[in-house]
Amino acid sequence: MRLAFFASGTGSNVQAILNAIEVGNLEAEPVCLFCDQPGAGVLEKAEKANLPYLVLRPKDCMSRLAWEEAILDFLAKHQVDLIILAGFMRIISSTILTKYEKRVLNIHPSLLPQFPGRHGIRDAFEAKVERTGVTIHYVDEGIDTGEIVAQESIEIESNWTLADLEKAIHQIEHRLYPATIQMLVEKGQEN
Ligand code: GRF
Repeated sequence: MRLAFFASGTGSNVQAILNAIEVGNLEAEPVCLFCDQPGAGVLEKAEKANLPYLVLRPKDCMSRLAWEEAILDFLAKHQVDLIILAGFMRIISSTILTKYEKRVLNIHPSLLPQFPGRHGIRDAFEAKVERTGVTIHYVDEGIDTGEIVAQESIEIESNWTLADLEKAIHQIEHRLYPATIQMLVEKGQEN
C-alpha cells in the first residue's frame, strides 16, 4: 500500500507512521507528502526520511480548483493508494474525494462525533467530560464527519492539566494510527 501524507504542522503522527514502517510493524510504503504550510516542522521530517514532498498553498495557484488539480497530479505521479491526513488543516473537497473514495483517512483527537473541529482536546477538557480519546475515520466533505474506522478512549484523571491530557492523547495517536493503517492493509490482503 502506497501512502501519501497530508500535513500542515509538526508531523509527529507522520513520524510515528514512518517509524512503524521502519521497524516492520506497518507493511506500507511511504511515497510522498503534501504540505500547505511553508516552513512547517513536518518538512524537516520528510527531508530526513527522503520523502518527496510538495508545498503549495491555494493562494499560490490561480484558483482553488487549480490547487486541487496540482495535488491530484502530485498524487498520480507517486501512484498513491491511500491518503493519510495527519494534522492537515484544510477541507478536502470532492475534486480529490471522488478520485480517492474511501482512500482518505484522518485522525482526530476526540471521540467523534463529540468535539469535532480544530480544538478537540481542549474542548473535551473544558467540557469536563469523564472520557475522551482518538478517532480515525474516512474523510468525507464534512468536518470530522466520515465513517469511523477506529477509536480509543481514555479517562481524564481529575488532577490532569490540559498539557497532561494532550500528552496522553498524542501517545494514543502515535500508536493507533499505524495500527489502524496496518489493519486496513491486512483487510485489503483478504479481499
Ligand atoms: C493531532 O493531534 C491530530 O489528531 C490533529 O492534529 C494534530 C497533528 O499533530 N488532527 P502532528 O502534526 O501529527 O504532530
